[in-house]
Amino acid sequence: MKKKKTELSREIGLEIAAICGKHFLNLEHLHYGYWTKDLEVDLANLRIAQENYANFLISHIPDGVRSILDVGCGRGQMAKKLVDVGYKVDCVSPSPLLSQQSRDLLGDRSDIFECYYEQLQTENRYDVVLFSESFQYIEPEEAIKKTLCLLNGDGYLLICDVFRTDAQSKNPQSGGHPLTRFYNIVSEYPLGLVKDLDITEETAPTIDIEGHIFKEVVHPVVNLLEQLLDNRYPFISKFLKWKYRRKIDKIYGKYFSGQRTGENFKKFKSYRLLLYKKTIPQ
Ligand SMILES: C[S@@+](CC[C@H](N)C(=O)[O-])C[C@H]1O[C@@H](n2cnc3c(N)ncnc32)[C@H](O)[C@@H]1O
Repeated sequence: MKKKKTELSREIGLEIAAICGKHFLNLEHLHYGYWTKDLEVDLANLRIAQENYANFLISHIPDGVRSILDVGCGRGQMAKKLVDVGYKVDCVSPSPLLSQQSRDLLGDRSDIFECYYEQLQTENRYDVVLFSESFQYIEPEEAIKKTLCLLNGDGYLLICDVFRTDAQSKNPQSGGHPLTRFYNIVSEYPLGLVKDLDITEETAPTIDIEGHIFKEVVHPVVNLLEQLLDNRYPFISKFLKWKYRRKIDKIYGKYFSGQRTGENFKKFKSYRLLLYKKTIPQ
C-alpha cells in the first residue's frame, strides 16, 4: 500500500473529516449531499442532504444489476444501504480506519479490499463499479482501464463526483479532474454513455456551509492559537511563521480568503452523475 506523501495526507484529512462529521454532526457519509429545493441550507440539514444523495445515486443503478464494487467506500454506509436493498456489494478502501468501520458495519456480507483501487487484485467481477466522490482521487485513465477489467461483459461504470470546468481565472478550490479531459479519455474506451446529469446546483450549498465553518469557527480558532503561541513562545512562533510562510499563505488563501463559496463552486466545478455501459470493442 505504498503511496506518495500527498495521498497519505489526503487520507488522513478524510479520516479526520469522518471522525468530526460523525461525532459533531452525526453524519454517516463523506460526500457533499444533495440539496433539494425544499431543504433549507443549514448545517443541521446536511445529514438529510446526504441521505438524499444516497437515494439519488441508488435510483440511478440500472435494472438487472446484482453485484457492485464500491470504490472508496468511506465509512461503508452507502454499501450498507445497497446491501440492505438486495445488492451484493464489495468495497475498496485504502484507509485502515475507514476500512475497519466498514467491516464493523457490513460484517461478512461484503469483502472489504483494504488497498488503493490502482492496486486491487481480485478474480471477482461486478455488474457495476461505483465511484461515489472517489473518482477525483484516481488518474482517470488508470481507473477506467482497471474498471473495464473488473466489469462483467455488459457491466456499468457509475461515477458521481466533482470535476473542474474550463473556467479560465484562478480556481480557489482544488479537487476534481478537468471534465473536458475526462470526456476525451473516456471516449477512447469501449464505454457507451447512458446518463450524464449535472447536479452542481444541488451539491453547491455544502460549499457555502463549509466556507461558513472556515470563516466563523476555524479561522478565529487559528487566530487565537496564533496569539497563544506568540505570547508563550515568541521565538518559536517567529521561526515557524518564517519557515512555513509559503505553506501558511497557501492555506490562508485556500480556506480563509472567503473564496470558498457555492457561487465559486458553480463557476469552477461541475458535479456530475455519469453512467457508462461497457460495450464490445469494435
Ligand atoms: C470523499 S470520500 C467518499 C466516501 C464515500 N464513497 C461516500 O460517498 O461517502 C473519498 C473516498 O475515496 C477513498 N479513496 C481515496 N483515494 C482512493 C484510491 N486511490 N482508491 C480507492 N479509494 C480511494 C477514500 O478512502 C474515501 O473513502
